[in-house]
Amino acid sequence: MKGIILAGGTGTRLYPLTMVTSKQLLPVYDKPMIYYPLSTLMLADIKDILIISTPDDIERFKQLLGNGKQFGLNLSYAVQPNPDGLAQAFLIGKEFIKDDACALILGDNIFYGNGFRGILKKALKNAEQNHTASVFGYYVNEPGRYGIVEFDKDKNAVSVEEKPKNPKSNYAITGLYFCPSGVSKIVEQLTPSDRGELEITSLMDMYLSQQRLNVSVLGRGFAWLDMGTIDSLYDAGSFVRMIEKRQGIQISAPEEIAYRNGWIDKASLIDSAKKYGNSPYGKHLMTVASGKLKY
Ligand code: DAU
Repeated sequence: MKGIILAGGTGTRLYPLTMVTSKQLLPVYDKPMIYYPLSTLMLADIKDILIISTPDDIERFKQLLGNGKQFGLNLSYAVQPNPDGLAQAFLIGKEFIKDDACALILGDNIFYGNGFRGILKKALKNAEQNHTASVFGYYVNEPGRYGIVEFDKDKNAVSVEEKPKNPKSNYAITGLYFCPSGVSKIVEQLTPSDRGELEITSLMDMYLSQQRLNVSVLGRGFAWLDMGTIDSLYDAGSFVRMIEKRQGIQISAPEEIAYRNGWIDKASLIDSAKKYGNSPYGKHLMTVASGKLKY
């Protein structure tokens, strides 16, 4: 299974914050935004990850994350010249994906909740063994802002639509998509929408029409946040701060996940912790290495 983080776009809704930097490098409380989707892919046990960003921003991601060895990962990079749609990630990543299944996560999405690892593992198995795609539904207050999935009375998905004027349900499709092998070939058949983008919902609609789309609902106790606006960025930072302070943990620390997954040893964890200096993040990694955290 391969993974792609799509971290491009213009970020105009966050101006002036994003006039000289990428949105996905902005701080979400104590760490750069991209650490969160990176952690999500790592929780799904995905180690080969392609990061896609704009021609202007891609070097910054390379400076921050390098080849991924410190996370026990193989990271590679590609450029999206223009924001021509989310599904384009599978065309840009065609050579990287080869004949594998592939997960795509949007660089501005945070997932946090109990049992998430199990949910991810199931989606991975469905893609690799059953050749079916998976998306996650999440009940929201303003469905018109998202891709939406409609269910019948038996909770089977019957339609997906991108930002409909009259949403048929309140279930948003989150920015995490698991696709079986052959996804790039399917995207090659898509045509741009009225707004000129290769829509991810068109791809999911294709899987739905082939009866190859699983939709799992993330329940009320689960947190799914996206950060396209100033307020949602601020709210995400507040959420992370609140949980971390309350529990004395770190949400989405890639080095910690790598260590707990057995992908890096204690010496590498300590090297990373030192690199972060005496920041709270660095101190947390040191505490993890000490074995004092018992959760
Ligand atoms: O967050 C979940 C939603 O993400 C889904 O419910 C929608 O179906 C999906 O279309 C998407 O909606 P957004 O309104 O968030 O899409 P947006 O165009 O803002 O792009 C999402 C992120 O991806 C954003 O950080 C910018 C980046 N992006 C976007 C496009 C179109 C790229 O890197 N390249 C692109 O071509």
